[in-house]
Amino acid sequence: MKILSKIFPKKSDCTLNNGKTITEMEQKTPAESIKARYNATHDDFPDIKNPKYPEFYWLDLGNLCNLRCPFCQTGKNLPLKRGFLNRSNFDIILDKIGKHAKFISLINWGEPFLNKDLLYFFSRCEKLGIRTHIDSNLSFAFLSKQEAEEIVTSGIDVILGSIDGATQEGYSKYRVKGNLDMVLQNLRLLRLTRDELGLDKPFLGWSFLINKFNEDEIDQATAMADDIGVDIWFKLLSCEDPSWRSKYHDTPDHPVLKVPEWVARVYPIGLPESLVTQPLHSELTCVCYQPFSSMIINWNGDVYPCCVVFGDNYKLGNLITQEFDEVWFGEKYENSRAFLRHYGPPQTEKSVCRDESCPLKKKSL
Ligand SMILES: C[S@@+](CC[C@H](N)C(=O)[O-])C[C@H]1O[C@@H](n2cnc3c(N)ncnc32)[C@H](O)[C@@H]1O
Ligand code: SF4
Ligand code: SF4
Repeated sequence: MKILSKIFPKKSDCTLNNGKTITEMEQKTPAESIKARYNATHDDFPDIKNPKYPEFYWLDLGNLCNLRCPFCQTGKNLPLKRGFLNRSNFDIILDKIGKHAKFISLINWGEPFLNKDLLYFFSRCEKLGIRTHIDSNLSFAFLSKQEAEEIVTSGIDVILGSIDGATQEGYSKYRVKGNLDMVLQNLRLLRLTRDELGLDKPFLGWSFLINKFNEDEIDQATAMADDIGVDIWFKLLSCEDPSWRSKYHDTPDHPVLKVPEWVARVYPIGLPESLVTQPLHSELTCVCYQPFSSMIINWNGDVYPCCVVFGDNYKLGNLITQEFDEVWFGEKYENSRAFLRHYGPPQTEKSVCRDESCPLKKKSL
């Protein structure tokens, strides 16, 4: 492909950290190079030299929210341009990603249920055979029976409630302004409505971010999830303030943090972390292959390599004003990939992933 040969030139005098030149590295496949250098074990590592079109997308329906979670840029109300994705921009974006997409998470930095066109988006994706997922605070309003029916019949495949606690006190320490009774009632109603209608989707789950203030509510939450009839997934809260760290933050191998088997089932094309065992770049604290395998699109069409960087300085393009290839194979994406794969254009190029904003370089995650 012409555009690829421009971005990934065959010859270069760039010298790698391991002393080899690009030309030497070219003699191996990218996967072989990575495996040789980092003892990675898997054959299916995404083709890091020639990225294919991504099948996994995050498409944000808006970066506004009724809650004020303290470590979320929306909860913090950072001074960013805020708004909702509308139908016409959604249609433009879906036209561009629809032919590649297998799975779209319709969230990033806001509460999806605040977007009035949410059900339209779900059903359009379903008609194209694209599976969809949302996380929701489920604390935006008490759902009526009719609303619950509209949601479960809309085509959405996976809804996870973000419920970080089993008591109002423990829960609302992070989910500031959240109402636990409302959340639990909504989740139960969705579950009952789906079953009454005899539907096999959406998958309904409970996602629990563990922090210092809810760490002792795990057994209670497990029992409550069981009572409602949904699966629960415990994860660590990313906290920039260390006083929020729970006892589990220091025991990442603790059985409570084991990823449940259903996660791989409901995110069928998410790449397991076992694909590569070491970071692609020595400055990173863990593996990141997102710029090779997925794309994040915000409510206004701006594209990012992952869900953790935001703001105009870090955007890689815009899918409303630009064509897909122009963004995905563009220089900004390529600079991030070059940094992560540690070969290609000179490593001195500025890129989102090289920038200090990358949270994988911080120990706080
Ligand atoms: C920004 S939220 C947007 C969706 C929705 N408002 C929600 O909270 O579920 C996207 C995901 O980020 C998660 N999240 C929020 N703050 C987090 C944190 N400090 N650490 C890890 N995940 C976090 C949420 O639980 C949710 O799964
Ligand atoms: S509910 Fe979600 S979007 Fe809203 S502030 Fe919390 S994490 Fe952010
Ligand atoms: S900024 Fe960090 S987390 Fe985001 S894609 Fe780059 S390396 Fe990955």
